Amino acid sequence: MNRRPRRNRQSEVIRNMVQETSLSLNDFIFPLFIIEGQNQRIDVASMPGIARYSIDKLQDEIASCVDLGIKTFAPFPSIPEPLKDKYATESHNPDGLFPRAIREIKKNFPEVVLMTDVAMDPYSSDGHDGIVENDEIINDETLEVLGKMALTQAQAGADIIGPSDMMDGRVGHIRKVLDENGFTKVGIMAYTAKYASAFYGPFRDALDSAPKKGDKKTYQMNPANSREALIEAELDTAEGADFLMVKPALAYLDVIKMLRDSSHLPIAAYNVSGEYAMVKAAAQNGWLDAEKGMLEILLSIKRAGADVILSYFAKEFAQYLKK
Ligand code: PBG
Repeated sequence: MNRRPRRNRQSEVIRNMVQETSLSLNDFIFPLFIIEGQNQRIDVASMPGIARYSIDKLQDEIASCVDLGIKTFAPFPSIPEPLKDKYATESHNPDGLFPRAIREIKKNFPEVVLMTDVAMDPYSSDGHDGIVENDEIINDETLEVLGKMALTQAQAGADIIGPSDMMDGRVGHIRKVLDENGFTKVGIMAYTAKYASAFYGPFRDALDSAPKKGDKKTYQMNPANSREALIEAELDTAEGADFLMVKPALAYLDVIKMLRDSSHLPIAAYNVSGEYAMVKAAAQNGWLDAEKGMLEILLSIKRAGADVILSYFAKEFAQYLKK
């Protein structure tokens, strides 16, 4: 044998030298859940280690993350049921929970980058990402709401808008509304290839945002498709996206790789709630080592080609780096 791959695995120093991929805290975005009230911290049962915070308590949580070196956050609001309606009106109320939270975070942590979610579901009495008319999710009328929502978030201080709704033409519409109102510096991280996935379950629990009727298959992508992700990527790029995202991450590593190979834009991947919950649940049962599982998963997402990783593991990863 003149080729022995094990030679490059024989010591830690050599293994580290030939390591092809590594993780940096710069790559991470940490999602956060916000609720109304004061002095509230309510655990999300299906996501051990993750909680929903009132705006005041959230500042302490962000401070501890900033101390650990996390710089970018993706907050999501949990809207009280009585404020939800068919047109998600609360989503563009400048005094609503979300804009108030954005203003407070940017006041206390001006250096922090906020990527804010644009989609109707947390504010919709139907629990869908668009307006429901005769059991159909109507596209073009929804764009009007998404534009107003994005503008409200930009006015509150959002740095990057993250449309997660999967309506056609939303990136272009949001770009136009932002530019017309002077927010040319606010970026757009498009949820480009967002699949109709079972792995969003714990997130919908955390925000009480599950669809009241039906599913999201007429707007989110079919898990069987990957070429379709390239069509979405072309459109989002043409419409002005600054980042392209694949979501979920683990069951779609091939899609991350495809977009990385076919685009010059930064590629983000969302390691979603159900992917986090699976690792935590197995670890709680003693079936696998949570830390090793976390590192392997995060590395695999990076190896597949993601430049940016949204993950509920971000804080734990930061704590792991510290020790
Ligand atoms: C909703 C939205 C969802 C997630 C982010 N934005 C859920 C959905 O589409 O139903 C899921 C994130 C996660 O599971 O961690 N627009």
